[in-house]
Amino acid sequence: MIINLDEVDSTNEYLKRMSADGYDSDEMLTVTAQYQNSGKGRRGRSWVTEPGSALMFSVMIKPRLSLSDCSMLTLVMALAVKKALSDMDIETGIKWPNDIVMNQKKLCGILTEALSETGQIIIGVGINTNQEYMPEELSQTATSILLQTDDCVDHDSLLDSILFHFDELCKKVYETNDLSLLKEEYEQALVSKNGEVTVLDPEGEYNGICKGIDNTGQLLVECGNDIKKVYAGEVSVRGIYGYV
Ligand code: BTN
Repeated sequence: MIINLDEVDSTNEYLKRMSADGYDSDEMLTVTAQYQNSGKGRRGRSWVTEPGSALMFSVMIKPRLSLSDCSMLTLVMALAVKKALSDMDIETGIKWPNDIVMNQKKLCGILTEALSETGQIIIGVGINTNQEYMPEELSQTATSILLQTDDCVDHDSLLDSILFHFDELCKKVYETNDLSLLKEEYEQALVSKNGEVTVLDPEGEYNGICKGIDNTGQLLVECGNDIKKVYAGEVSVRGIYGYV
């Protein structure tokens, strides 16, 4: 089921309220909004876009995985977005764990929240589609599809395609309960594969070579003779020369 809203605080928050009001189904529920007046990004940041200029939606699912494994589905959604854009001849990359980038700039962000009381998870996706310009403070690191391709995107078709790919990819995850069947495809999309990255670990920043992901979606970073596993919740990773 898809609920289309003109305005909401945040599509993630809307779904949280539906869950708190007792919505509990095995079927995926999707909410879209033309405008969010309190859109949320990762790490407590806000996510601000002009009405109608971005595709913003959240899905709520009850995954057949333990909640601790649900962070894998964030990577799965990133791959679904990448595949849907690729079907429209828009080639993008993934900056681990779940940013979609084009020409070194961010095009899409994903915010996943787990509801431990109900076992549901909410995956919120914001894709910069039809913005004609980026605010000055974001213009070095963010972009839109229109800015990159000169083409406007039809939000309904893109959403349908993302949800189709997400469903197909989730089936593959449920076959093995991990990302082993998707790892190769995800790694092909990974912009930093075999490149030098900086891991912004709160316990100490370090550099290393990105070697890909393991079957649970943790980033593998080679530091000398050691391979460190980076868990998405704890840290962020940058290319050594900038955002990507
Ligand atoms: C990020 O910081 O990269 C994540 C951004 C996620 C934005 C989307 S827009 C739809 C959904 N609702 C929100 O409030 N946030 C997510």
